[in-house]
Amino acid sequence: MSNALRLGIAGLGTVGVGVIKIIQEHATMLEMRGGRPVTITAVSARSKTKNRDVDLSDYTWEDNAVELAKRDDIDVFVELIGGDSGPAKASVEAAIAAGKDVITANKALLAMHGQELAVAAENAGVNLRYEAAVAGGIPIIKALTDGLAGNKINRVMGVMNGTCNYILTRMESANLPYETVFEEANQLGYLEADPNLDVGGIDAAHKLVLLSSIAFGTQVNFAGAELEGIGEVTIEDIEHARDMGFRIKLLGLAEMTDAGLEQSMRPSLVPATSPLAQLEGGTNMVVVEGDAVGQIAMRGAGAGEGPTASAVMGDVMDIARGLKMPVFGQPASTLKEAKIAKASGKSAFCLRLNLKDEAGAMAKVSSALADASVSIDRMRQFSHDDASAPVMIVTHPVERTTVEAAFAAIAALNITTQEPLMLGIVDA
Ligand SMILES: NC(=O)c1ccc[n+]([C@@H]2O[C@H](COP(=O)([O-])OP(=O)(O)OC[C@H]3O[C@@H](n4cnc5c(N)ncnc54)[C@H](OP(=O)(O)O)[C@@H]3O)[C@@H](O)[C@H]2O)c1
Repeated sequence: MSNALRLGIAGLGTVGVGVIKIIQEHATMLEMRGGRPVTITAVSARSKTKNRDVDLSDYTWEDNAVELAKRDDIDVFVELIGGDSGPAKASVEAAIAAGKDVITANKALLAMHGQELAVAAENAGVNLRYEAAVAGGIPIIKALTDGLAGNKINRVMGVMNGTCNYILTRMESANLPYETVFEEANQLGYLEADPNLDVGGIDAAHKLVLLSSIAFGTQVNFAGAELEGIGEVTIEDIEHARDMGFRIKLLGLAEMTDAGLEQSMRPSLVPATSPLAQLEGGTNMVVVEGDAVGQIAMRGAGAGEGPTASAVMGDVMDIARGLKMPVFGQPASTLKEAKIAKASGKSAFCLRLNLKDEAGAMAKVSSALADASVSIDRMRQFSHDDASAPVMIVTHPVERTTVEAAFAAIAALNITTQEPLMLGIVDA
């Protein structure tokens, strides 16, 4: 057998420990598949004394991740610290500068600095791999850069934040309000230290913009993603949507249209019979539409020790085999600056209104919609108390800007008891 592939692992939390366990448990299998032994030379984390439920005694300890990244006796630097700046960024940059291949699970880092890091890695002739950064155990980066490379990609969409999907499906199955399930998720350790990264859609959008860069050959552009979190979705919305044949998902959508690159992460309605609607708990699904392949969907655990470490190991195996791939599927210098566009295509929308229980309120809504040329496909009023009448209106396909104008006009009428909600209906 040829020389071992020597890893330096920075970050010994959920993912780091998962990677070490796989390497310890499957050494022979990995050697056979990778064509060379995979070993760990050195590790780094904040606390040297923390019990991590894994034997680290064979590995050199480095207090400083940047020093680990530069060591002469590692071939691959594996960054599993997290964060879009600080030690994660500094150590990845140091590793690239020292000519090391890099593997990271850090979507925040790549969403904010992907282009500059890709240029640096390609100039240095090293790999920068990040399978674990998007949709946990689902090998979607490899699928897009490799297996689907012969396709012009038309659309990428998916549910890519397991915590949000857990919250939405738990609200529905246990009939609990958002606040209760949010607290439950917090107790279970499902939420990031800053929960807004999850429920605000930011984490999922970090992943989406990496996929759209590969799919459309554009530079990563997180600032160009339209973002809306799940905090406004009520249990009543979920129930009423279900009554009308839909489920609510935090859905990411990336599409290249004549207007430019459209990237959005929003709570959306999907038909209850669609594969995306079936996702329960922390499961993720990514759907890709290519001109030759048609539509394909990949589904699996979006987070957790095993699934995320599985994705890291996919990258380790590729590097062990000597494979080299441009970071975003084509040389970083050829990625176009994305012309960002607001969602322009027509789709149906669902408006949730809690109307004051007063004569003429519904007539005012109808005329506001008619004035904006939004036509109603169907509408349902749900049982209500004395003060407020919940109404859901499904429109015929219409441009988002048109329905937004109607929505603003309705909001200004002072006929609702609660902030109205507008959800796109995605034909998934
Ligand atoms: N968890 C998941 O399911 C999942 C899924 C996909 C992607 N990811 C990504 O994977 C990365 C790691 O996530 P995680 O869940 O494993 O995080 P985690 O459990 O919080 O672990 C983070 C690790 O980084 C270490 N660390 C913090 N500051 C450091 C520093 N200055 N130098 C060296 N090490 C430092 C911590 O050390 P101590 O242990 O000593 O505090 C800890 O071991 C993140 O980018 C995350 O977004 C995670």
